Amino acid sequence: MTVQEYAYAKLNLTLDVTARRDDGYHDMLMVMQTVSLTDSIQVERTEEDGIRARCNFRYVPNDERNLAVKAACVYLQAIGEEKRGISIRMEKEIPVGAGMAGGSADAAAVLRGMNRLFDRRMNRRELEMLAEQIGSDVAFCVSGGTSLARGRGEQLEDLTPMPDCQIVICKPGFSISTPELFRKLDQIGLRTHPDTPGMLEALRAGDLKEISMRMFNVFEEVDDRRMRSEAEIKHVLLDHGALGAVMTGTGSAVFGVFCDGEAAERCAEELHREYRFCRVVQPVSRLEI
Ligand code: C5P
Repeated sequence: MTVQEYAYAKLNLTLDVTARRDDGYHDMLMVMQTVSLTDSIQVERTEEDGIRARCNFRYVPNDERNLAVKAACVYLQAIGEEKRGISIRMEKEIPVGAGMAGGSADAAAVLRGMNRLFDRRMNRRELEMLAEQIGSDVAFCVSGGTSLARGRGEQLEDLTPMPDCQIVICKPGFSISTPELFRKLDQIGLRTHPDTPGMLEALRAGDLKEISMRMFNVFEEVDDRRMRSEAEIKHVLLDHGALGAVMTGTGSAVFGVFCDGEAAERCAEELHREYRFCRVVQPVSRLEI
């Protein structure tokens, strides 16, 4: 039996780092949003033992360094069926090293797929608890939608869904290493933070303009020459009428929020002349588990 799942990319409407912890991680406060950019994931039970993975991106590993493989392994352990054979097929669209949680979304999609293959033995909360063992963003990706994430990103609170809009995402050619960016952030000492309560209020009011005005990511404060490309992309987005523009996660993708679909398409076309990855996407609401 084979099940088909879609792994949805996430964007950060806000990203704040509130403390450095003793365990090497940082405490975060983030408003996360699922969008309609997906990887396609097929999960199948096989007769042979072991977990096998295939992916259209050749440089994505096929062993436990791949979060999707780790997810299948963690699920089998949790239900006490470690000996089962599983095959995972991934068609990736979400760019790697973009700050869109592509690897985490794949892992979450595998958890949902495994749950379908094994008679839905777990509910949403149980899947989210397994997800925490896999990576910081995986718990959010289990059902996605619009959420406030705290701690390492695993403490989740459902929020009012983001209103319909068009979002232009653009990723420059380079990727940014997450641990490296956290280290640089520790060196600068943050003075500016997003207005997270204001963002929650704007979401409750369904006010796209207020939401867009409050988008902010503390990693943009890091002094890194690559941030110049991020600033250039933001300028193009705002010049084309974006209500707001910000980098997602630890980058390197940047996105802008539009209410006008034609303006969004024109902007994506212009950015595409210089940057290979450019897409127009829409917000996606929470998946029912
Ligand atoms: O959990 P994940 O594997 O995605 O994290 C990658 C790295 O990013 C961690 O090893 C850590 O250096 C950094 N990180 C952090 N605080 C977080 C999440 C990640 O310092 N909340």
